[in-house]
Amino acid sequence: MNEPLNDKGVIHRYRPFLPVSDATPVISLSEGSTPLIHSPRLSEKAGAEVYLKFEGLNPTGSFKDRGMTVAISKAVEDGAKMVICASTGNTSAAAAAYAARAGIQCAVILPAGKIAIGKLAQAFVYGAKVVAIRGNFDDALRIVREFGGIDGVAIVNSINPHRIEGQKTAAFEIIEDLGDAPDIHILPVGNAGNITAYWKGYREFHAAARSSRLPKMVGFQAAGSAPIFYNRPIDRPDTIATAIRIGNPASWEGANDAACESGGCIDIVTDEEILSAQAWLASKEGIFVEPASAASVAGLLKCHSKARCSGCPFASALREGAKVVLTVTGHGLKDTETAVSFGGFAPAEADANLDAVRAVLDKN
Ligand code: F0G
Repeated sequence: MNEPLNDKGVIHRYRPFLPVSDATPVISLSEGSTPLIHSPRLSEKAGAEVYLKFEGLNPTGSFKDRGMTVAISKAVEDGAKMVICASTGNTSAAAAAYAARAGIQCAVILPAGKIAIGKLAQAFVYGAKVVAIRGNFDDALRIVREFGGIDGVAIVNSINPHRIEGQKTAAFEIIEDLGDAPDIHILPVGNAGNITAYWKGYREFHAAARSSRLPKMVGFQAAGSAPIFYNRPIDRPDTIATAIRIGNPASWEGANDAACESGGCIDIVTDEEILSAQAWLASKEGIFVEPASAASVAGLLKCHSKARCSGCPFASALREGAKVVLTVTGHGLKDTETAVSFGGFAPAEADANLDAVRAVLDKN
């Protein structure tokens, strides 16, 4: 089932580091190899060298594609006829797309009313069966876990270790692009699979002498959905950044290990800070990311001013010339509603002639 010209995608690029063999059918949409974009304005603000790993440029518009190519390839190898996942929207989009590509069924369990419209559209268009539960993501994942062990069904949430394996490849790419690991890596945290995956990736390339150091891992949760920061499950998580609206993350321990072992931390940002950072990044750097992704930017913007606080793990690391990478996890086009309503955007109307258009432009 290996396709001709299937020479792109993370399995092809990092095969020796992934749990695949010649018997594994490669289900790929050429994910990965996303750009690491230098950010002059964030660099200026933070007094460091700041780069954005723009994961919104993956085939379904988020970092989930990296993990999904491995999870679905392994599911097919193991004879699965159906995959299932709980999701806040991006995992379900990726699962649906890769299942379609593999020619198997996909079922997605989502919290009703809390999925950005672009992501919901993706699940339907890629042909998934969509169930919206009256509950949150944590409830959906509890239900999905109960599908474990059913013959022919594979769970493709990040409790499936193949997801973490695929997602760690983003750390490999960053090391290859920079020539070494950065000093600090910042990313949003929801179910905590991604911070776990990056930390694994950084450690594996370090152990393989492909990098000379390890970064401090810094994760940001939304203030209303911050179980790891507060060190207790949150029964009713809430945030405008619906992708990270999670009260009891599956990879809680992985996130703690990443932060503690690397000398980093888990911190919080408010919805206000998230939406301001999203608008700031789009209008200052031309990069439109979804609200959850803007949590990393909001975190840097919040912390650079406090970076000299004594005891802050940022303090020693965030200095002139330090290399800082922020993962911006998903594309802004997935959730245009939030951006448009926060910005209060509406075009100024004009009659259809030059003078009328110029008059409006002069006024605005
Ligand atoms: N950013 C985006 C855009 C996400 O969709 C997610 C998670 C995260 C960050 C957090 O990553 O869960 O590995 O800590 N989305 C999952 C989903 C929960 O169902 O799409 P994490």
